[in-house]
Amino acid sequence: MDRAAAAPPVSIDTINPKVLKCQYAVRGAIVSHAQRLQQELQTSQGSLPFDEILYCNIGNPQSLGQQPITFFREVLALCDHPALLGKSNIDALFSKDAIGRAQKILDLIPGRATGAYSHSQGIKGLRDAIAAGIAIRDGFPANADDIFLTDGASPGVHMMMQLLIRSENDGILCPIPQYPLYSASIALHGGSLVPYYLDEATGWGLEISDVKKQLEDAQSKGITVRALVVINPGNPTGQVLAEENQKKIVEFCKNEGLVLLADEVYQENVYVDNKKFNSFKKIARSMGYGEEDLYLVSFQSISKGYHGECGKRGGYMEVTGFSAEVREQFYKVASVNLCSNISGQIIASLVMNPPKVGDESYKSFIAEKNGILSSLARRAKALEDAFNSLEGVTCNKAEGAMYLFPRLHLPQKAIDAAKAVIAAPDTLYARRLLDATGIVVVPGSGFGQVPGTWHVRCTILPQEDKIPAIISRLKAFHEAFMDEFRD
Ligand SMILES: Cc1ncc(COP(=O)(O)O)c(C=O)c1O
Repeated sequence: MDRAAAAPPVSIDTINPKVLKCQYAVRGAIVSHAQRLQQELQTSQGSLPFDEILYCNIGNPQSLGQQPITFFREVLALCDHPALLGKSNIDALFSKDAIGRAQKILDLIPGRATGAYSHSQGIKGLRDAIAAGIAIRDGFPANADDIFLTDGASPGVHMMMQLLIRSENDGILCPIPQYPLYSASIALHGGSLVPYYLDEATGWGLEISDVKKQLEDAQSKGITVRALVVINPGNPTGQVLAEENQKKIVEFCKNEGLVLLADEVYQENVYVDNKKFNSFKKIARSMGYGEEDLYLVSFQSISKGYHGECGKRGGYMEVTGFSAEVREQFYKVASVNLCSNISGQIIASLVMNPPKVGDESYKSFIAEKNGILSSLARRAKALEDAFNSLEGVTCNKAEGAMYLFPRLHLPQKAIDAAKAVIAAPDTLYARRLLDATGIVVVPGSGFGQVPGTWHVRCTILPQEDKIPAIISRLKAFHEAFMDEFRD
């Protein structure tokens, strides 16, 4: 049969409209432009006012020079090439506890084969190890059957959206600003994003009365709200929730029958002494709530923390509170993807069970871990101070995560100039910043923001020796921008 007669052509007009609706600014137009500039730098040196592109758009630590944790990579290398364990000089090349851990992990893997598919939830022995790590973290028991190992947190989030969203009449409460995985995934699955606003004036606080109001608003429009997303520590906003606040969220989800989708991928990234990460599971259990009281899904990732193993794609979700029937459906959906990759599974088990006091690697592991986290804290502070020193810019503290989300109080002239080129004012700012300095940030419009406010998101990830140059370029750019547009 003639191809044209058989079916409508595959064109932009005929692909799934949900795909067209989906947006993901973290890798959007500004980043594509940065990649073009990078090409230009390579082909004609000296053609631009800077000599390198500084990617502050995405939480991808190793792409900016962060070194992987030695112990994790030693164990991984040995698991992936077990023949090394039989070499006579192995003790000279690998630490004793990495050798011991790799042997233990290989014993947990059916056939000792990292190249084989595993159980669809992940290798049982690794899930046992992760559950043990969660129990130590929280002081409450965890169960390997509740763990679903995933290729990073993102596929876990997609899976939950797939399970929860039946039509556009199903809503998911999401923070605004939010990490655009959530808006993108809700759009792809055909649901409705129900926004609740974080309050910038109180350090991106989450007001439960606002969440309730948004829930009721959505319900009055015929939306069945199914879940509440909380990102703690926050992305792009960097706040760490206080325990009292978390208790209110748990209470709210319990009372409203909402699934609490707790994005806890930045649980190791807390930079202030007066705040501490508490998992929502720990909070719920410490309030006396068990399985039957709350639907709770916690997402963890190997991409963040001090390890930043983004490219290895590993993570897990811990799923509690659902009936056995529903759990079977979770398992069925997981099994359609066969399994998550085994390197990611191994690293996830190491992240939740790092070397302990007395292990040979302990000292060097802690030195690497603390070195990275304290450097991140210094970088966060230096960039926060720099943003706050700029005319018309205010920036909350990054208590955690990997980002600053400064607010740009832009002059009307800049807003008008953006309108003239049909761009959001923060997109104009980000584009100008990139063209002048090579610094890539993401316009706040990609995360959602209170209408009429403008922000950019800047990661704190460039290596420490690059921060002074970034700050001086940023300051010079901002002054020139304000001189051009000041009202
Ligand atoms: C809040 C949050 N959740 C989830 C993810 C997904 O990360 P991954 O899929 O690499 O685990 C990210 C990545 O930046 C994130 O910032």
